[in-house]
Amino acid sequence: MALGRLFVLILLRVLFVHGEIYLYNNTTILFMFDDYLSEDGPGIPFQGFEGFLRAASPADGCTEMVPADRDSLFVIIKRYGCTFEQKVRNAQAANFSAVIVHNVDSNALIHMPYTNKTGILIPAVFVSEETGELLLANAQVEGTYVWLDETFHVNKDVFLAFCMFVLVAFFCMLSSMLFRYVRNRRRRRRYL
Ligand SMILES: *[C@@H]1O[C@H](CO)[C@@H](O)[C@H](O)[C@H]1NC(C)=O
Ligand SMILES: *[C@@H]1O[C@H](CO)[C@@H](O)[C@H](O)[C@H]1NC(C)=O
Ligand SMILES: *[C@@H]1O[C@H](CO)[C@@H](O)[C@H](O)[C@H]1NC(C)=O
Ligand SMILES: *[C@@H]1O[C@H](CO)[C@@H](O)[C@H](O)[C@H]1NC(C)=O
Repeated sequence: MALGRLFVLILLRVLFVHGEIYLYNNTTILFMFDDYLSEDGPGIPFQGFEGFLRAASPADGCTEMVPADRDSLFVIIKRYGCTFEQKVRNAQAANFSAVIVHNVDSNALIHMPYTNKTGILIPAVFVSEETGELLLANAQVEGTYVWLDETFHVNKDVFLAFCMFVLVAFFCMLSSMLFRYVRNRRRRRRYL
């Protein structure tokens, strides 16, 4: 029972690993980026999560940050200098609604673990350096905002492999049933 649930959890985690960030100016989607949500913090609401962008000050978010000057602000913080947990706690204390941590000298995406997630109320996503730079550049532009979407983004490769597996298993079952049916028919004929 517990093992079954664990299996389903792992399957879901593998299938739905990453989310997306959409960058808008007013109603136009300018860009779409991949991100990884920190699964130790809270999730993104089903309908997504919208906010305006601010660059963190200090940029690494490792000490007390300049607080948010309005509602629905997502703060962009660079990687390194301290733990992800520390950055997120500082952003939360500065009244930001979400955290976007960007990589440095790499476009790889990683999951951000926290050692202590108690009291962390805002979601955090991790993006590549390239995405981080584009978001930082657009944080200056009036009217741009982002939309975080983490739910039900299927990892296509894993999903395809999973479908193939199910299909192969199905055909194996079907051919074994067919084989047994034919064999039984032959036997029955012999005894007639
Ligand atoms: C939105 O982006 C387009 C294309 O980059 C630009 O022409 C337009 O001025 C922008 N609008 C706003 C409100 O920033
Ligand atoms: C952006 O949208 C708002 C309403 O959502 C509108 O009032 C504003 O004029 C728009 N700005 C531009 C530059 O299109
Ligand atoms: C965060 O918001 C609360 C409630 O509006 C306010 O009391 C507090 O001073 C704010 N914190 C900072 C660091 O601005
Ligand atoms: C985790 O963080 C919370 C909130 O800051 C704190 O009260 C608690 O003592 C911490 N737990 C550990 C094990 O550090």
